[in-house]
Amino acid sequence: MDKVLIVYWSGTGNTEAMANAIAKGIESEGKEVDIVPVDSANEDMIKEVTYVALGCPSMGVESLEEDEMEPFVESLKNIDWSDKKLALFGSYDWGDGEWMRNWKDRMESYGAKLVADGLIVNLEPQGEELDNCTELGKTLVNA
Ligand SMILES: Cc1cc2nc3c(=O)[nH]c(=O)nc-3n(C[C@H](O)[C@H](O)[C@H](O)COP(=O)(O)O)c2cc1C
Repeated sequence: MDKVLIVYWSGTGNTEAMANAIAKGIESEGKEVDIVPVDSANEDMIKEVTYVALGCPSMGVESLEEDEMEPFVESLKNIDWSDKKLALFGSYDWGDGEWMRNWKDRMESYGAKLVADGLIVNLEPQGEELDNCTELGKTLVNA
């Protein structure tokens, strides 16, 4: 139950870079982590772990990516989230983070407990932004 799972969608690699930095933080706390692109993930993987991080950039108009991430997130509705800890993250460009606020509200409506506000980064994460991702990984597994 101690293994950590990161599931993400990333079109141009920015959210993927966040996932890798979050994984670094998790590993620095001595935990094992699997990083799985959402097209290789399923809800049973989430059921098996306590610590989960989900990543998706702002797509559409302030939405999750609609072909893979949106149906995956929808499938998480009926999971028992009561003993799980969740972190959300993703990259954006011109918006103000609305998609992430909506996503957080949605996950909380499923019963999920977030360890922090969703972490958002403008375009490619660099410097301090990568450090913030690493910190989120640590926060997740210490929650
Ligand atoms: C089709 C499309 C729709 C997008 N819609 C939004 C949006 O509504 N708000 C926003 O802030 N950024 C939007 N973006 C910008 C992406 O969120 C941004 O490029 C992000 O860094 C992509 O992350 P990725 O490299 O993980 O795919 C959009 C990008 C694309 C290609």
